Amino acid sequence: MTAVVQPKATTSDVNGKLWSAGARDWADIQEGVVRKLYETVLERMRVGRGTRYLDAGCGSGLAAQIAASRGAAVSGIDAAEALLAIARERVPQGDFQRGDLEALPYPERAFDAVTGFNSFQFAGNQAVALGEARRVTKPDGTVAIVTWGEPEGMEAASVVGALRPLMPPPPPGAPGPFALSQQAALRRFAADAKLKPVEIFDVDTPFFYPDQATALRGLNSSGVATRAIEHSSRTVVTEAHAKAIAPFRQADGSYRIQATFRCLLAKLMLAGLLLAGALTPTAHAADRQVARGKYLVTLGGCNDCHTPGSFFGKPDMKRTLGGSDVGFAIPGMGVFVGANLTPDKETGLGTWTKQQIVTALTTGKRPDGRMLAPVMPWEEFAHLTRADALAIAAYLKSLPPVQHKVAGPFGPNEKVTVFVMSVQPADVYNTLPQPGEPPAK
Ligand code: HEC
Repeated sequence: MTAVVQPKATTSDVNGKLWSAGARDWADIQEGVVRKLYETVLERMRVGRGTRYLDAGCGSGLAAQIAASRGAAVSGIDAAEALLAIARERVPQGDFQRGDLEALPYPERAFDAVTGFNSFQFAGNQAVALGEARRVTKPDGTVAIVTWGEPEGMEAASVVGALRPLMPPPPPGAPGPFALSQQAALRRFAADAKLKPVEIFDVDTPFFYPDQATALRGLNSSGVATRAIEHSSRTVVTEAHAKAIAPFRQADGSYRIQATFRCLLAKLMLAGLLLAGALTPTAHAADRQVARGKYLVTLGGCNDCHTPGSFFGKPDMKRTLGGSDVGFAIPGMGVFVGANLTPDKETGLGTWTKQQIVTALTTGKRPDGRMLAPVMPWEEFAHLTRADALAIAAYLKSLPPVQHKVAGPFGPNEKVTVFVMSVQPADVYNTLPQPGEPPAK
């Protein structure tokens, strides 16, 4: 994770200085918060005994250390001498060199597995850097491009964003930290370097810090933070970080900040391979998420309460999840109608982010702060894994928008204008008119 926006042909001089400044804190704190990311990627690439492994942008060598402990022969390249010194301490048998990602000092076909953890995208020339990674990979080897996950709703993205106002303005066209986070952009990046994506997956790696001081030391140690410190001041950067992490403070004073990384594993595209066929496996990754969401929505009974007609025995599947026509009466609270969950902007969830949907679904809290009535079973849905909750949100976002404003919510004394389900004692129910009968008097 060692690079910074700097659109020059090569970057190691500038990046080397920036990333050396906080090397010790980076190694002691910040690199470790994403240990799970390194472990997951190396596991998926089956890095193990006999693997010749290169980490391009190796930082203080944690990924290399994990690979070495799995039995791999490891090499690392980075711009920052101070980080490399730590990497050499950690993995004495490893080969660590200072250099540019755009000019790797290795022969062709030298490695079975090459990773770039948040590194290729920041290289002065991304395409050349990735082309170099390809060049040094064996024909049956694997290249991993690891970048930030999609920023929308990601807690760590708000922390990353906190430094933006404190940095020198980026040169026009400079790729931001999330430039490759969209699947399509990431796939294109790989394909342009003649790499064939075989798998894209996300890894959730919550940043954990035992206390505020540790969090601030960790966050201030990156090259990006150093650049902001040079441009403004350490005090200002520390304050900005303190403010950005405040919402994630836990009761015991520790910090837990949800973060997601997106990983693309690629094979070399060899001459004669059909491009269309090569892209198939990952082209379906987004579809798979939506399919998973649909499956969960079916099991979750969402259609009963959110699709019109369902309580009359005739769910209107042309308006799937377009909002109910029957409200639930909750004594003392009022009457609540299952909302329109389709992406219609005016009457549905069109203006909600996926994260806002996940929050409502798993905590009962709407973006406007109102808590959902307890008939919406969010306490059960709170048990969803984050990936499943996101899959549901992705499915809801994929629905055709239905324009249908549901009635309510109605307060306890308000006149209701929809059908109502309510709990009645038998003797009251027995006096109620049957549908179609005139009201009893
Ligand atoms: C037992 C009925 C019931 C079931 C089952 C149910 N909901 Fe709901 N849901 C409701 C009601 C009623 C509301 C409106 C509550 C309110 O306005 O306070 C609601 C509100 C919501 C909201 C907030 C929308 C808004 O505009 O405020 C979301 C999102 C939501 N439900 C998603 C789901 C999903 C997804 C499922 C299935 C996994 C589901 N619900 C299952 C009854 C239900």
